[in-house]
Amino acid sequence: MKGIILAGGSGSRLHPMTLAASKQLLPVYDKPMVYYPLCTLMLAGIRDILIISTPEDLPQFRRLLGDGERFGVHFAYAIQPSPDGIAQAFLIGRDWLGGEACALALGDNLIHGDHLSALLRQAAANPAGASVFAYQVRDPERYGVVLFDEAGGVLDIIEKPASPASNWAVTGLYFYDARVTEIAASIKPSARGELEITDLNRVYLREGTLRVERLSRGYAWLDAGTPDSLIQAATYVQTIQSRTGMLVGCPEEVAFRMGYIGADELRAHAGSLHKTELGRILHELAEGQHR
Ligand code: DAU
Repeated sequence: MKGIILAGGSGSRLHPMTLAASKQLLPVYDKPMVYYPLCTLMLAGIRDILIISTPEDLPQFRRLLGDGERFGVHFAYAIQPSPDGIAQAFLIGRDWLGGEACALALGDNLIHGDHLSALLRQAAANPAGASVFAYQVRDPERYGVVLFDEAGGVLDIIEKPASPASNWAVTGLYFYDARVTEIAASIKPSARGELEITDLNRVYLREGTLRVERLSRGYAWLDAGTPDSLIQAATYVQTIQSRTGMLVGCPEEVAFRMGYIGADELRAHAGSLHKTELGRILHELAEGQHR
């Protein structure tokens, strides 16, 4: 399975911060925002990753991430000329995907929790259909919202409903089978002119192959699209890291734990960050502590 990180858009809810900088490169505590969805894909076992961003911002992503060798993965890059919808990622990535199954992670989403890797690997291993995750929030009207029947079956997903039928929001992490490009090509722009990811999910729902996994309260799902959610995400990362000494959203650590890089490489990366607490923790990890 391959993976796409969608990191474009205008970031207008974060203006003026994003007038001259990509939202997904803004800091979430001690790392660029894009590191968090990157770690999510890496934890799913995905090592071929396409980064999609705007014509203006894509060079900065290349500068930050390079070819992926540092993290034991392979990055490719593609431009989204204008923000015409999340599902457009599969049309932009069609040739690169070459008919493979694909996961999509939104560049402003952070998911964290125990056994996340097992959950993600399970979703990635499903051969047919699509898997998405739902999370209980207080402001479901900002998201795609899942409507369940009494038995817990999924009746529908509604994008940004004025009167949400549940508090279960669809997170910005999606796993699709190899038909995703074909299905993305079949959906039509919505009233706001975007190829909606919710419409793509509803195709799978109608054919009975959409799995919606509810994330329990043991997980944290945060997005960082507004000033308040950006500082909430940063505070969350800072709290966990300073309390436990373990990192959230650090691709060098994930690469090491997944066996994509060895202790020598990790030690070298820690050295390149030696003026930071992050570098100190990575160094300890390379030396066999924090297991
Ligand atoms: O965060 C989860 C939510 O993401 C889902 O619950 C919704 O169903 C889904 O539509 C989406 O809602 P948002 O309101 O967060 O979508 P937004 O337009 O803000 O785009 C999400 C991210 O994707 C954002 O970082 C910008 C990027 N993006 C978006 C569009 C529409 C692109 O890179 N290109 C695009 O064309």
